[in-house]
Amino acid sequence: MDNAFLSQYLGTPPRSSRSLDLFDRILRRIVPWLRISSCWRGEMASIESRMNLFHLLSQTLINRVEGDVVEIGCHEGESSVVLQAVIQSIDPTRQLHVFDSFHGVPNGDAADKGVYKAGDMKASKMQLYENFDHLGLKRPLVHSGWFEKTLPLFLPERIAFGLIDADLYRSTLFSLRTAYPRLTPASICLLGVYWDPQAGVVTTTDMKYRSPGVKQACDEFFTNKPERISILLAGNYTSGYFRKM
Ligand SMILES: C[S@@+](CC[C@H](N)C(=O)[O-])C[C@H]1O[C@@H](n2cnc3c(N)ncnc32)[C@H](O)[C@@H]1O
Repeated sequence: MDNAFLSQYLGTPPRSSRSLDLFDRILRRIVPWLRISSCWRGEMASIESRMNLFHLLSQTLINRVEGDVVEIGCHEGESSVVLQAVIQSIDPTRQLHVFDSFHGVPNGDAADKGVYKAGDMKASKMQLYENFDHLGLKRPLVHSGWFEKTLPLFLPERIAFGLIDADLYRSTLFSLRTAYPRLTPASICLLGVYWDPQAGVVTTTDMKYRSPGVKQACDEFFTNKPERISILLAGNYTSGYFRKM
């Protein structure tokens, strides 16, 4: 399958014009990570991060790793549509489950160092459905509510591929604790906005994508596990991933 669909717009059209693009280029010489002419409405998921998803999920399904596909923290589905497009092209028997409060993130903890405040990233479930309809994709099973309530009830028993994109320490730790035992051997789990200042990654990661809580949750969770997190460049931020042993 080709991945040209990754360049399609979702939701409202991008803000772009010649003068805006010119202003953007000048501004970026001064502040390299700053981008004002967006090419993607919400910018939750960069093209590069969606390419990572495309390749990792494709190989998982082609290798017939057992289980369904989940996204914990789906917002309006910028990544979910990629997951569903790959499922439909490679193995439509897999079910996509997506989870979100649709009220944004909850209160953070000390570990989060105030990167987000409660209610940030509030999303519209209708927009998520529209994004699927716009691309002619089957809608996923949407589980609305706080992860603490929905994950124990609705996570599938066997997971072949997981995207945990929860931004905060407590949300990430709870997601890992609940999803990890259900990940099948050789399954892949990707962690959104995993930022490791020690990794020496030469990238212009925006401060808002340096979520310290995600790394701390992973550090704590993996102390007694055999897997280790690897870094994936994802455009203006980094993600992490591990393959279940
Ligand atoms: C960065 S956004 C997800 C972006 C999405 N994966 C994408 O690629 O477009 C993080 C989402 O996690 C959700 N979230 C974080 N903690 C949560 C919790 N404890 N319960 C429910 N939703 C939560 C927020 O509502 C937010 O929509």
